[in-house]
Amino acid sequence: MSLLKLKDVSLNYHSPKGETQALKNISFEVKENEFIAIVGPSGCGKTTILSLIAGILKPSSGEIIKNDDGENFIGYMFQRDHLFEWRTIWQNVILGLEIQKKKNAQNFEYLNKLLQKYGLYDFKDKFPRELSGGMRQRVALIRTLALNPKVLLLDEPFSALDYQTRLNVCDDVNNIIKNEKKTAILVTHDISEAISMADRIIILTPRPAEVKKIITLNLQKYGTPFNRRECSEFSKLFNEVWKDLEN
Ligand SMILES: Nc1ncnc2c1ncn2[C@@H]1O[C@H](COP(=O)(O)OP(=O)(O)OP(=O)(O)O)[C@@H](O)[C@H]1O
Ligand SMILES: [Mg+2]
Repeated sequence: MSLLKLKDVSLNYHSPKGETQALKNISFEVKENEFIAIVGPSGCGKTTILSLIAGILKPSSGEIIKNDDGENFIGYMFQRDHLFEWRTIWQNVILGLEIQKKKNAQNFEYLNKLLQKYGLYDFKDKFPRELSGGMRQRVALIRTLALNPKVLLLDEPFSALDYQTRLNVCDDVNNIIKNEKKTAILVTHDISEAISMADRIIILTPRPAEVKKIITLNLQKYGTPFNRRECSEFSKLFNEVWKDLEN
């Protein structure tokens, strides 16, 4: 089932200095429980696509069809974790519930369960500065999950982490997304990351971004992102994506 569909979406930014065309006729669809990675040259329009899907921007032309009428269809996770340093981990993860006036026993129970399942329960009363970078990203993800969104938008969520941490957090985040049965759209500069996590990779051209190619991967059988990086098809896929990004 298609959960989300972009049909010939274009977007122009208007500013006093003039018009910037960011996206040109972008079309793709996202199926339920699918993991999509979007890769493209720097400044090509990747974040703009996520902003459109989140409803923060409206397309200049084309349409975005969401196959769902739930109010919290989308959850957004950014490059920086945006945790509030003066709030404890618990106070951070309930932030969305607080804003939407949904603090109740059932939602708290769900959050406690997530914290337990993903090794953060004992850190509930700590402050963000007491946690490692990887743990902080897990907290940020759990805060996003609190409102039970169907689709998670991840905008380079690992790029601020060092390489070793990044590999671990990839595995953790992937595990959480699969366990909680979420659909995910990941924007990344990192080709290896895209291959190790996604079901399909959407490759964009330089700005204004157009869809250059969509590659379907069949690496689920290898399990975790870490294991997928070790598989025999990996380097061939890497070269394919790399070449498409180069020219
Ligand atoms: N609010 C805005 N007003 C005008 N131009 C904008 C605005 N936001 C982004 N742009 C321009 O639109 C283009 C696409 O921006 P976008 O942030 O979507 O790219 P990106 O692929 O996410 O870039 P990066 O790789 O740096 O994250 C860029 O040239 C950017 O300068
Ligand atoms: Mg961006």
